[in-house]
Amino acid sequence: MTLLVTGAAGFIGANFVLDWLASSQEPIINLDKLTYAGNLETLSSLQGDARHVFVQGDIGDAELVSRLLAEHQPRAVLNFAAESHVDRSIHGPVDFIETNIVGTFRLLESVRGYWSALPESRKSAFRFLHVSTDEVYGSLAKDDPAFAETHRYEPNSPYSASKAASDHLVRAWHHTYGLPVLTTNCSNNYGPYHFPEKLIPLMIVNALAGKPLPVYGDGMQIRDWLYVKDHCSAIRRVLEAGRLGETYNVGGWNEKPNIEIVKTVCALLDELRPRADGQPYAQQISYVTDRPGHDRRYAIDAHKIEAELGWKPAETFETGIRKTVQWYLANPQWVSNVQSGAYRDWVQKQYQAS
Ligand code: NAD
Ligand code: TYD
Repeated sequence: MTLLVTGAAGFIGANFVLDWLASSQEPIINLDKLTYAGNLETLSSLQGDARHVFVQGDIGDAELVSRLLAEHQPRAVLNFAAESHVDRSIHGPVDFIETNIVGTFRLLESVRGYWSALPESRKSAFRFLHVSTDEVYGSLAKDDPAFAETHRYEPNSPYSASKAASDHLVRAWHHTYGLPVLTTNCSNNYGPYHFPEKLIPLMIVNALAGKPLPVYGDGMQIRDWLYVKDHCSAIRRVLEAGRLGETYNVGGWNEKPNIEIVKTVCALLDELRPRADGQPYAQQISYVTDRPGHDRRYAIDAHKIEAELGWKPAETFETGIRKTVQWYLANPQWVSNVQSGAYRDWVQKQYQAS
């Protein structure tokens, strides 16, 4: 038995692989294009481990994907591969359309070709699990109920629109061709190996470097935060017991305004690595121009996955954020290695006007 996991050199995919192989002998074929967000160093502890086979390539490369499927005969394909950063999608949406929409379409077609030729027993056991986001549902007003799976799709950014399109393709491949699919829509993740272009790792890295902590607009936008390992356990559970064709919202009932997140990170750093001058890190907070079309609030209603599959997060926000800050303090080498020329160019482009 084998899994084909795409995008597993990225933040969540790599955490998934590390978690999986910590408790299973089932090998993983990791297909990743290694964009700026893909980083094999995250998986360096698996060097020489025959259970992890890395292949550099694009989910849209039908020839390569078909060859990998034929060669390794996986029992499931898990699709984490995506362009994932909203701000980048605003500056340049083309890669989001290419990977998230066209890439997912090509992947589905390659997988359909493989799956339809499987013998009946393996065909019914096969799964295609698509990893998606709560951002497909759009933005909530302050008192609106959290997103349930039945919420209308109302994506607002090029990123969320491209993920919404991919979710629709996955759904259609199930309804039309019978492909045994599962979809998860998760809230904002945080934790180890998170690329420092996203809010939490950027704030930790900038704070330690003595740089401003850029808070968009009034900082009162709300996100629903989940520790990455809890997302991984939800994916494992859905793969194991999810009902075919269903979508499962994944979240930790942890809504927080951005400014509160930033202040929490500052307070933890004050405790764990105080500034040399004894001043609080919160002094570095700097309000900057808001993101265009910035969604005000996301919140996940996780009742379905809890009731049907018995999944619950293991971490509270307090325990998860402490572990995360501790991890960044203990791993400065990982951070400096991902801060390549491409990363520096991005930071320059995104924050130059602030
Ligand atoms: P990430 O940007 O850290 O990693 C994406 C990975 O995909 C990278 O390793 C990259 O090299 C790879 N990739 C990109 N294009 C590819 C292609 N065409 N072919 C093969 N590989 C390609 O993203 P992440 O935060 O780990 O997110 C993983 C998935 O989870 C995405 O689908 C994202 O939409 C979804 N998601 C993310 C969050 C979050 O908070 N980060 C929340 C919910 C859902
Ligand atoms: P981000 O980590 O980019 O995730 P997403 O946009 O997918 O939710 O951003 C999380 C929130 O933090 C979002 O409301 C935008 C805000 N933000 C800032 O205020 N400053 C920053 O420098 C970044 C990267 C994000």
